[in-house]
Amino acid sequence: MTTDVTVTDEAVASLEGTADPRLRELLTGLIRHLHAFARETGLTQAEWERAIGFLTETGKMCTDTRQEFILLSDVLGLSMLVETIAGDRADRAAGSTESTVLGPFHMTESPVRELGANIDLVGGGEPCVVSGRIVSGDGTPLPGAVLDVWQADGNGFYDVQQPDVQPPGNGRGLFTADAEGRFWFRTCVPSPYPIPTDGPVGELLKATGRHPYRPAHIHFIASAEGHAPVTTHIFVAGSDYLDSDAVFAVKQSLVEDFTPTDDPSLAREFGIENPFRHARFDLVLDRA
Ligand code: BEZ
Ligand code: FE
Repeated sequence: MTTDVTVTDEAVASLEGTADPRLRELLTGLIRHLHAFARETGLTQAEWERAIGFLTETGKMCTDTRQEFILLSDVLGLSMLVETIAGDRADRAAGSTESTVLGPFHMTESPVRELGANIDLVGGGEPCVVSGRIVSGDGTPLPGAVLDVWQADGNGFYDVQQPDVQPPGNGRGLFTADAEGRFWFRTCVPSPYPIPTDGPVGELLKATGRHPYRPAHIHFIASAEGHAPVTTHIFVAGSDYLDSDAVFAVKQSLVEDFTPTDDPSLAREFGIENPFRHARFDLVLDRA
């Protein structure tokens, strides 16, 4: 007979026929930890039902352009933990660019753009140039490396959140580095913004007295042949919420100055009017 004492071992034993050993390991750990959690907290039936209801609502909130489950993982710190475990690989070279969370808004293909293009299709924000090089761990430039970029607009919304307001692809671009591994594009300085709070995750934040804000940032995925791609952001130095990101994703090495610039030759080089802000940094990839 199954009792509260034997159920854990019985549930684990039920996995004996699992062909994939990794699947068996993961499910065994999940069962053991979930059961330990229920025992430790004395989880009540009403609380279990509330949790099932919460997860059901989380699933219902998901669409092609809204990923409430990733958001839940983000605010619980799980996304950042998984990211950090992956980034702590023994073969990671010192000095290679650190990763951070993907987030829920990398859900459309970024439009292919020429180097120097402006990804701010709407305008209105503070003009800015982002430039640098994509290099290998030993500093060798990576010509042809691909840089996928996405950011919220000056009001803190991604294009997919406002299909009636922003043109698709606003704040996004897919760039190919030049023969010296260089990339550069124009945009507006991002601002801090709240993660979506109109769903179950917002309820959770409210119930726990947490604010929903993320510090100002731009997302990147950099990839190059023979190298491990890196999913990361740069954060605007001095932004609010750098110390209290709602999704725990700030790493000090990713905080960059967006330097006020009024230099005619730089303005000419980047095809932008003075004054503007300039973020300049290299993305360093590990060999695969
Ligand atoms: C983002 O930066 O796009 C993001 C990351 C995690 C949760 C919500 C938004
Ligand atoms: Fe973001």
